[in-house]
Amino acid sequence: MAVSPVIGLDIGTNTVKLAQISRSRNRLDLGFAGLAPLPDGAIVEKSIKNPDAVSNAIRALYDNSRSRIKQVCTSVAGKAVIIKQVTVASMKDHDLEKLIQIEAEPYIPFDMDDVNLDFFILGETPERPGFMEVILAAVKKDFMAEYVDLITSLNLVPTVVDVDPFALEVMYEFCYPDVEEDIVALVNLGATNINVSILKSGTSQFTRDLPMGGDNITREIMRFFNVDFVRAENMKRGAQLGNMNPGNLETIFERYVDLYVSELRRTLDFFSANVSTQAIGRILLSGGGAATFGLPSAIQKEFNIPVEVVDPFRVFNVDPNVFDSDYLGRIGATMAVAVGLALRNERDKQV
Ligand SMILES: Nc1ncnc2c1ncn2[C@@H]1O[C@H](COP(=O)(O)OP(=O)(O)OP(=O)(O)O)[C@@H](O)[C@H]1O
Ligand SMILES: [Mg+2]
Repeated sequence: MAVSPVIGLDIGTNTVKLAQISRSRNRLDLGFAGLAPLPDGAIVEKSIKNPDAVSNAIRALYDNSRSRIKQVCTSVAGKAVIIKQVTVASMKDHDLEKLIQIEAEPYIPFDMDDVNLDFFILGETPERPGFMEVILAAVKKDFMAEYVDLITSLNLVPTVVDVDPFALEVMYEFCYPDVEEDIVALVNLGATNINVSILKSGTSQFTRDLPMGGDNITREIMRFFNVDFVRAENMKRGAQLGNMNPGNLETIFERYVDLYVSELRRTLDFFSANVSTQAIGRILLSGGGAATFGLPSAIQKEFNIPVEVVDPFRVFNVDPNVFDSDYLGRIGATMAVAVGLALRNERDKQV
């Protein structure tokens, strides 16, 4: 069966990302990868506050991609999204489909009529015959509608609304088939959230969202140096500081790097104490925040295991006449979720 390609669209607080991968025979080609910044306040707590700004950014990327594909796979995150691993009596997928409302109810802090539910069966519960582990995902309907309506208003067709950690897993599955370690932590550092997903043999064992991200650093730079949002963003990315003291900027980076490392330490320790005693073998960093000055080396020093910044383009055929390799190198980590979303149909075909 032919796989119809989809556009992967990651609408983040800081940037919108668009990716498209096509299959030609047995090869996967990079069709498009690009990102566009959003103005401050366009998305607040993941809710779309300035639909015009978000639409314009998506439209510009889509036009730039010259794609004729209309089907879009996007993702949602934040407080209106609940992802939980639960234990339920073993049953077939289609039976759980019928019972999911009842099984999920105790775990979802919203009215069940207000949420869209999805689930994924992980497998038998170890040491508890007759039970299985299931990942539940619940998204508030009105929140999801903000995204669906916006995409529809652009004449695009939202076919799948996924959640960020699952998109990252798909990216990992396709782009990192060669990783030898069994347990791998994916850490996506966005503007407002750090998503941690721990995989065993490529399958999710644990996910957690830490309510912090690169935006905290931007706000601190704005406050300390008395500059606006755009200037602070540029300063983070190495823009000339003029007569400002670089030492002060480094102190801000150090403080947040320490905070991220200690929160990551707590999260990974929680996993080791409660989920699996098997050691985490590798950490893969993604998201714009992976480029935070000094962060990868600080994580490497703390955990003493291989730490790598994700390159989601590494397995695709990339036409050098179309793509600038420096640009792809710069945006790679930020594009990880969008690439996972763009591969969604490829993954479904395998299942
Ligand atoms: N070179 C860099 N150094 C430090 N921080 C950077 C750099 N490049 C981008 N960032 C930061 O990364 C963050 C944006 O990352 P990303 O695009 O992954 O977030 P997002 O998806 O928009 O946000 P969220 O997922 O939280 O909604 C911003 O805070 C930005 O300042
Ligand atoms: Mg993001």
